[in-house]
Amino acid sequence: MSSKIAAETMPNPGAETPLVVVREYDERRDKVAVNELERQCEVGQRGKPALVTDLMGDPICRLRYFASHVMLVAEYGNRKEVVGTIRGCIKTVAIGKRSSNEFPIYVKLAYVFGLRVSSAHRRLGIGTKLVQQLEEWCRQNGANYAYMATDGSNQPSLNLFTLRCNYVKFRNPTVLVQPVHLHYKPLGSVPNIFENFGFYFLYGLHMEGKDGSNLMKSLCAFAHNMARDDKDCRVLVAEVGQMDPVREAIPHWRKFSWDQDIWCIKKLREAQGEDNRNSQEYWIKSQTSSSVIFVDPRDN
Ligand SMILES: CC(C)(COP(=O)(O)OP(=O)(O)OC[C@H]1O[C@@H](n2cnc3c(N)ncnc32)[C@H](O)[C@@H]1OP(=O)(O)O)[C@@H](O)C(=O)NCCC(=O)NCCS
Repeated sequence: MSSKIAAETMPNPGAETPLVVVREYDERRDKVAVNELERQCEVGQRGKPALVTDLMGDPICRLRYFASHVMLVAEYGNRKEVVGTIRGCIKTVAIGKRSSNEFPIYVKLAYVFGLRVSSAHRRLGIGTKLVQQLEEWCRQNGANYAYMATDGSNQPSLNLFTLRCNYVKFRNPTVLVQPVHLHYKPLGSVPNIFENFGFYFLYGLHMEGKDGSNLMKSLCAFAHNMARDDKDCRVLVAEVGQMDPVREAIPHWRKFSWDQDIWCIKKLREAQGEDNRNSQEYWIKSQTSSSVIFVDPRDN
């Protein structure tokens, strides 16, 4: 897919107008430029700690395990400089059950992530164009919805998605982080998390019944013990609904954990069938941050 977008928002319209071209990523041509863009684009608040995924020089490492995925780049000007990227993948998710029978209702959901625009080319509409082109690809590939996740303090990203692209705030999960104490380090010592490190992501966590909490604590202790044998693993991470009681049972350090993750969603295509449509509206509008959220481990 390649589409030329006239740069109506570009500065200095009298001069030779640079074009922004959004096209599909080509590993041979773009890998070096995209890695450089990733390196210089800081995500998160300046001076505040943030967990950022290191792509280890492989721009599509978070994408290739999805059957349906794409990465787009934005080229700027006559020199065709790569100044922006975005990634997207489509998955099928269950959003609840029909009332008439017990079969789940499935929708095709696109996850939009890895949006980056070089700091020298911001506020030129390039981020917006990347999102719009990605949405178009998602529609053409059957997605009903698109969602993204960002830190609540990332105002540029939130504004772009909610004010410009009509996404709505959808879920607000909590990220719980527990340091892993390696066998040869004393308990209470803080692992080095200022350089690259690996982590174990705990997902699908759910508890019920009067002993649920103790069982969950045991499961987490088991995971922690495994992690202690893995010299590259420095923290355990879990992401759960803010009001989910499981949150209290998962060991975590408050100062490493945060409540600031915000997921935003947008409908891309009309739902099929009345029954389905009502369920989908409910799915988006209900504030189910009080209940269980299933987090896709591949999104982290
Ligand atoms: C977020 C980011 C992609 C925006 O790219 P961009 O090309 O500058 O975005 P656009 O020019 O299309 O801006 C569209 C709208 O987003 C909002 N926006 C963008 N930058 C903003 C800023 N610094 N402060 C407040 N709002 C901002 C505005 O509503 C803007 O519309 P406006 O210019 O008419 O006011 C870019 O700042 C970036 O790469 N940031 C670092 C990486 C990052 O945080 N990515 C998002 C991860 S989810």
